[in-house]
Amino acid sequence: MNINGKTRLFAIIGNPVSHSLSPAMHNAAFAELGINAAYVPIKADNIEQTVAGLRTLGFVGASVTVPFKETVMGCLDNIDPTAAKIGAVNTLAFRQTDQEKICICNGYNTDWIGSNSALAQVIDLKGATALVIGAGGAAKAVVFGLLTAGAKVTIANRTQEKAEGLALELGCDSIPFENIATTSADILINTTTVGMAPHSGRSPVASELLPNYQVVMDIVYAPLQTTLLKQAIACGCKVIDGLDMLLYQGVEQFRIWTGVQPPPSVMRKALLKAIDKL
Ligand code: ATR
Repeated sequence: MNINGKTRLFAIIGNPVSHSLSPAMHNAAFAELGINAAYVPIKADNIEQTVAGLRTLGFVGASVTVPFKETVMGCLDNIDPTAAKIGAVNTLAFRQTDQEKICICNGYNTDWIGSNSALAQVIDLKGATALVIGAGGAAKAVVFGLLTAGAKVTIANRTQEKAEGLALELGCDSIPFENIATTSADILINTTTVGMAPHSGRSPVASELLPNYQVVMDIVYAPLQTTLLKQAIACGCKVIDGLDMLLYQGVEQFRIWTGVQPPPSVMRKALLKAIDKL
C-alpha cells in the first residue's frame, strides 16, 4: 500500500472493533482496483466526537458497527429514507462542499442489501416464504430486505413479545418459538448469536426440522460453518454462510463511496484470510 498526501481515508467505527473483518475486505478491493485509499478500524467511545473527528480529518467514508448504528443517526446531515425506515445506519459518506468548505455527512443502511444479495445468489426472493429466527437489529435489516424483495416472512424469537413487535412494525407474521417445530418455508435464516464460538455446538433449530427448508442462511461467521449449516448441508439444503451478508453489505458500501462496483470474489477471499487469523 502506497500511502501519500492523496490517499483517501475510510474507517470502521465501533466498540469493540479490533476483531473487524471489514478493513481486510475493503483494503483488498482498493488494492485490486488500484484506488489510492486506506480503511482503518477506529474504536469509538463517544459517537458524536468520533463523527466530528472524521469530518475534520477529511475522511471520505465510514462503516458503523455495534453499538452505534442507531445513535449515529443523531450526528448526520442527511439520512437515506430506507435507513430512516429501518432505524439504523451502517454507512457514512462525507462530502466536502466546494463553496462553503463544510463537510456534509450522509447516512445509509446497506445491511438489508447485503442480506438480499447473499440470498439472491441461490433463490428468487419474490414470492418466497421465509422463517427468520431472532428479533434484534440484524433481524430487522434481514426482514426489511425480504419484505422489500417480495418475500412472505414469519419471525420467531426466544422472547415472543419482541417477535410480535418487529412483525407489527415491519408488516409480517410472527409465531411462538416452539411453533418452529410445526413450520416450514423456502428459506430459514438465523439472525441470533446461537452457534457462535465459544458455543459453536449449539443450533437454533433442531436438525430433524431442516428438511422443511430449501435454503438455510446463518449470519454467524465464527465459526464459518456453524452447527446449523453443517446439519443443513447434511439434509441437502442450499446454505449461505455468515460471510456473505458481511461481504455484500460491504460491496454496496464500496459502491456508495467510490461509484465503482468492487469485485466480490477478491473481497470474499480477503475475508476468508482474515477470519483465519481471528
Ligand atoms: P443484533 O443487533 O446483533 O441482532 P440483539 O439486538 O442483541 O443483536 O439481538 C440478538 C437476538 O438473538 C435476539 O433475537 C435474541 O433473543 P431475545 O430477544 O430473546 O434476547 C437472540 N438470542 C440471543 N441469544 C439467544 C439464545 N441463547 N437463544 C435464542 N435466542 C437468542
